[in-house]
Amino acid sequence: MNSSSTGTVRDGATPLVEARGLIKDYGRTQAVRDVSFTVYRGEVVGFLGPNGAGKSTTMKMLTGYLRPTAGKALVAGINVAEDPIAAQRVLGYLPESAPMYLDMMVIDFLHFIADLRGVTSDVKRGRIRAACERCGLMDVLGKDIGQLSKGYRQRVGLAQALLHDPDLLILDEPTSGLDPNQIVEIRALIKDLGRDKTVILSTHILPEVQATCDRIIIINDGQVVADDTPDALTGEGAGAMIRVVMRTESFVDPATVRHVLGGLPGVLRVDVQNAGSNTQELILAVRASKNADPREAIFGAAVANHWVLLELHRDRVSLEDTFQRLTQREGDRHAA
Ligand SMILES: Nc1ncnc2c1ncn2[C@@H]1O[C@H](COP(=O)(O)OP(=O)(O)OP(=O)(O)O)[C@@H](O)[C@H]1O
Ligand SMILES: [Mg+2]
Repeated sequence: MNSSSTGTVRDGATPLVEARGLIKDYGRTQAVRDVSFTVYRGEVVGFLGPNGAGKSTTMKMLTGYLRPTAGKALVAGINVAEDPIAAQRVLGYLPESAPMYLDMMVIDFLHFIADLRGVTSDVKRGRIRAACERCGLMDVLGKDIGQLSKGYRQRVGLAQALLHDPDLLILDEPTSGLDPNQIVEIRALIKDLGRDKTVILSTHILPEVQATCDRIIIINDGQVVADDTPDALTGEGAGAMIRVVMRTESFVDPATVRHVLGGLPGVLRVDVQNAGSNTQELILAVRASKNADPREAIFGAAVANHWVLLELHRDRVSLEDTFQRLTQREGDRHAA
């Protein structure tokens, strides 16, 4: 991980990527609506969001493969839409579904891409070798890409992104579709790359961002809904989760329980986790606000309503909790 990241305090840090009011319309669908953020040199930033949130669309605008409808993306101060070639010299991009020539040998493919990127012949061999060593490809150089496993193809995708030795890597779901062992390997590789490069990566694997990233940007429905350090999004700074299990004398409408506990001071949200199971035992996840501890109040409310408390346990907020809170629609949230 990078030592240069300082969370939200970044005095003296140099911005490498700036998204300013990015908007992308696909016909009548607005895929990205007013996305702004800054990534500083040396950071490893995780880009999270549910399917269709606009992650890939944003990444395509950052890399110059899509023109924004409005707003702009700057990479190393270069306006990407105005001069994509210059911006692409600074960045390496692993697209969501990397186009690959399946009947080409790994080594030939990398030579081909290096030529395409204008890597000069005096450094080409060295660059290809360095990328292959770094990505663990030395044993498969003579194989056709089509013969490789998904994990190895992903390594080829990463290697091609490194050939021109960019300062910035933009990786769209680099571990998607890989088995758990391959995920661990690619994650280690990304961590290693993060030691000397700035990295923006998107993923659906939340422990992955927690393990790899200095900062997390969560995007939902085309908008940034969080931009902070993993600690701030999961630790005390994000409040606490309280697990409550209780038995009621007769069937109680979960909406009543939600209403009673939801009105207590310090309670942000109450989810009934076994709603619909028609049991008199209720399992609840209560989200408390920062610096609040509503356990005593929950106890009091249970006594007042003759609900028997079986469990009352305070826990750290997980990244899953935060992600769900920020990305679930109101309707989904109260459906429980
Ligand atoms: N070429 C396109 N034409 C029309 N709509 C598109 C196009 N590409 C994406 N969209 C729409 O834009 C929205 C954002 O898509 P995008 O691929 O950026 O999401 P994502 O966050 O990368 O999702 P995922 O996690 O599934 O990869 C979605 O509603 C998607 O259907
Ligand atoms: Mg995507």
